[in-house]
Amino acid sequence: MVRPIEVAPPSDDKRWRIVNATMRRYGYKPQALIETLHAVQESFGFLDDESLSFVARRLNVPMSKAYGVATFYHFFSLKPPAKHNCVVCLGTACYIKGSDQMVKALSEAHDIEEGEITPDGEFALLSAHCVGACGLAPVAVVDGEIVSGLTPENIVKIVGERVSDGS
Ligand code: FES
Repeated sequence: MVRPIEVAPPSDDKRWRIVNATMRRYGYKPQALIETLHAVQESFGFLDDESLSFVARRLNVPMSKAYGVATFYHFFSLKPPAKHNCVVCLGTACYIKGSDQMVKALSEAHDIEEGEITPDGEFALLSAHCVGACGLAPVAVVDGEIVSGLTPENIVKIVGERVSDGS
């Protein structure tokens, strides 16, 4: 039997225990790669060089493979999550009520494109195809809360207040 390679986690953060438990469950086999990256993503919110390198070494897979998987699947993120985020719904019901204009207004106000994070990591502008609140259209999900009754002007104000209050 091949003994798993002992590799110390990047830090003593307790979340590495969750990641480690996932790898242990799979006997530290290379097949555990996707599940393990999932555990990292869920525990830390993103995958960075350090975590990819740790997982790759521990599971004995080439770093190029870990990167390949991390960049192939859209649910993995290589960037830390922003402090605040706004997901504007671009589903049909919201779109016909002008939600694309809300994206445009937020994009101009924060000088980022949809799908990007401001350079200071404060704000991410995202979009979705129907967030399941069509009756309230147009809607956006701001820091996890559904917000309705939106216009391009008030969404910029709502987001601006959150981003500038430093919380
Ligand atoms: S289309 Fe926007 S919530 Fe359904």
